[in-house]
Amino acid sequence: MPKITYIEHSGKEHVVEVASGLTVMEGARDNGVPGIDADCGGACACSTCHAYIPAEWSERLPAVEAMEEDMLDFAYETKPGLSRLTCQIKVTDDMDGLVVQLPEKQI
Ligand code: FES
Repeated sequence: MPKITYIEHSGKEHVVEVASGLTVMEGARDNGVPGIDADCGGACACSTCHAYIPAEWSERLPAVEAMEEDMLDFAYETKPGLSRLTCQIKVTDDMDGLVVQLPEKQI
């Protein structure tokens, strides 16, 4: 199972194994990682699963689709090229070692 490192805004790290097929949001939620609220449950309708994906990883992930792009407008302190909605990133085996940085807060 791919290991994903979630880093809270404070710097606290959570390294968890997330099964392929789940989303990066579900990996955080199911493992009690704080900082991802996911109010809509993964329907790309709330933006409270916003997080930053480091540049070295973002180019290896599926591109941002139009619906995600639209919802990112409502997220707190987005960063161009780094901000993603984690419910829209499906985990695959080649994402072992993925790093996800959590924002200071969700909206
Ligand atoms: Fe609501 Fe991702 S969980 S947009």
